[in-house]
Amino acid sequence: MASRQIQPKRSSRAILSIAGDKSISHRAAIFGSISEGVTTVENFLTSDDCLNTVNAMRMMGVAIEREGATLSITGVGLDGLRVADDVIDVGNSGTGIRLLTGLVAGQKFNTVLTGDASIRRRPMDRIIQPLRQMGATIHGEGGDRLAPLRVTGSSLNGTHYRSPVASAQVKSCVLIAGLYANGETTETEPSLSRDHTERMLMGFGATVTRDGLTVTVAPRPSMRGMRVTVPGDISSAAFFIVAGLILPDAEIVIENVGVNPTRDGIIEALKAMGADITLERERVMGAEPVADLRVKSSELSGAEFGGDLIVRMIDEIPILALAASQASGTTVVRDAEELRVKETDRIATISSELAQLGVQVVPSPDGFTITGKQKVRGGACSSRGDHRIAMTAAVAGLVAETPVTVSEIECIYTSFPTFWEVLSQI
Ligand code: S3P
Repeated sequence: MASRQIQPKRSSRAILSIAGDKSISHRAAIFGSISEGVTTVENFLTSDDCLNTVNAMRMMGVAIEREGATLSITGVGLDGLRVADDVIDVGNSGTGIRLLTGLVAGQKFNTVLTGDASIRRRPMDRIIQPLRQMGATIHGEGGDRLAPLRVTGSSLNGTHYRSPVASAQVKSCVLIAGLYANGETTETEPSLSRDHTERMLMGFGATVTRDGLTVTVAPRPSMRGMRVTVPGDISSAAFFIVAGLILPDAEIVIENVGVNPTRDGIIEALKAMGADITLERERVMGAEPVADLRVKSSELSGAEFGGDLIVRMIDEIPILALAASQASGTTVVRDAEELRVKETDRIATISSELAQLGVQVVPSPDGFTITGKQKVRGGACSSRGDHRIAMTAAVAGLVAETPVTVSEIECIYTSFPTFWEVLSQI
């Protein structure tokens, strides 16, 4: 297994460009495939996770050509998919398996979906339940809670599903299945999760309406191929935002970052801690707001985070923990129990791996407490197979007293294949 050593730094002046958004890339590959005509996707994230989704669509008969980060998808329309001749393997991707299961539930053929060891441990009952409510036939392992998932294509009924979790994967799974249902499909979530599915489906011609936390999709839309330009991923940018803030002498510009209000919780949280982050050249790219972010070294102070803000920054909480360790005073994160069912149990892995580098994190059932400002001693830690833990540890290495060695770094390719190149520009 590969490892990498990161040397400490003091200062940086850099203009960075970040890879495309993972969530938006998955959706573009799926929606382009089931639309009529050609969809061109620019700045597609060519990470393992998103390429596995492309592969899944190819296995179901869709012609997708890729040149670098540009996809050309010849859509087959809502009813043009065909049975895959093998098990669909999503690799490490929760978004992949949950959205694709929604897609295949209403087909006229059967599908088996699985993924790596991490995927096979993550909860799938959260999608099996609503899909069954729509009339789907799905069986999983572990009492129908885990992948592999065996899906028998069925005719689906529109439904109103009230999700107990604020999850864009659950919401998207239900809405995608709803495209194939015989009536309107509605989902209500406890707090607003990322809305890329809603925005992009409307762009492709589907009818999606929102009333507060409730969203409804009309069945059997006529979807037409289009051009999608994927903004930079704020979840990837977050590592370099925090690097810019905690290096003693830094000014970093990160260009073309998606700042969708359902995703920008990390900016709000860091600003509440005293971060100097400015949004420049704010504009709209397709259905998504985008900006350049200017980040300057900042004296951070601890703060308390919980409630609706957590879902708007759920993937950024590992790197927020590192920022908290470099802030004076105490930071508390609560209401983040969803971290326990990510690629790893992130409350556990944030605590154990930052401890290896000399940073104390006090875990709680739904979050953690960190009191700073702490010294990052340096040393060796593991990603535990989790890309966001690997990248958090690498950024910790920039502000450590001695070099940091991170092992099991291959997982970074699931979301941010150019991470090391961008880090070297810092
Ligand atoms: C995602 C939704 C979130 C997020 C994941 C990507 C998506 O997961 O953590 O990285 O693309 O819909 P949940 O839906 O489980 O909250």
